[in-house]
Amino acid sequence: MRHLIDPLDFSVEEIDALLYLADQIAENPTAFQNVCAHKKLATLFYEPSTRTRLSFEAAMLNLGGSVLGFSSADSSSAAKGESVADTIRVISSYADIAAMRHPKEGAPLRAARYSRIPVINAGDGGHQHPTQTLTDLMTIRRRMGSLSDLTIGLCGDLKFGRTVHSLIKSLSRYPGIRFILISPEELRVPDYVISEVLEPKKIPYEQVTSLENAMPLLDILYMTRVQRERFFNEEDYIRLKDAYILTEKKMALAKPNMAVLHPLPRVNEIVLEVDDDPRAAYFEQAQNGVYVRMALIMTLLGLTK
Ligand code: NCD
Repeated sequence: MRHLIDPLDFSVEEIDALLYLADQIAENPTAFQNVCAHKKLATLFYEPSTRTRLSFEAAMLNLGGSVLGFSSADSSSAAKGESVADTIRVISSYADIAAMRHPKEGAPLRAARYSRIPVINAGDGGHQHPTQTLTDLMTIRRRMGSLSDLTIGLCGDLKFGRTVHSLIKSLSRYPGIRFILISPEELRVPDYVISEVLEPKKIPYEQVTSLENAMPLLDILYMTRVQRERFFNEEDYIRLKDAYILTEKKMALAKPNMAVLHPLPRVNEIVLEVDDDPRAAYFEQAQNGVYVRMALIMTLLGLTK
């Protein structure tokens, strides 16, 4: 039985196969509408989410399956003090596959150890978010034609943004990748990203504070929201929240075929006028999130033909 807890749980070849399947689904979704008939997905969300939870649910419904679950810790037995280990043991009798989001880093990994069904990490604290990464990889590949030889700018809250950590980890496996890490000093990527991912693999990277200077160099600009809920105090959040705001004026500095990604939700880091720029790829990215989760559910359930 397979789980998806860490973005590196799948090999590059397995990710290729999954993205290929997701592309096929995107081209002809109705061909897949009964693949998961009579299968059930449990969405165990201990932390609020709209997009990720609904995209998992939409993915399972699109495949002809059903969904059950909860969308906050208060509406689950966690409020009574039940452990993640006990919850997943019970859910293993109710569903065929589970997606779990949890504010505590490592909770989905712990659940996977006790589970009799595949567990998908749908985001654990400030740690990892592997299905967002699959969504990002699909979008980059469709826009750029490949996942190699790209200069990737990541901008905003690189410290607490789990999507950033997962994406850097995953893209570091492809040749010719170079990162420009754009953030205020206080919101730089955690040390482990440098010491365990970028340095050992000798991936070229720079840590900078100016978005304008980086703009002309980028193939991909990955914007992120400042993660208010992970700050220790509100003053720091208020001071840092508007550090980067992407405008059409800044877009004018970029390559004509650059793509702007954002895992969403957006707060104010991309002004609305950028939405009409053909380089804005974030709504397409959200759509790809459904296709890639369909491909993932099929893969983990062993239902790829
Ligand atoms: C991201 C997350 O939850 O980490 N959202 C998402 O899953 N699309 C990004 C965020 O909340 O800023």
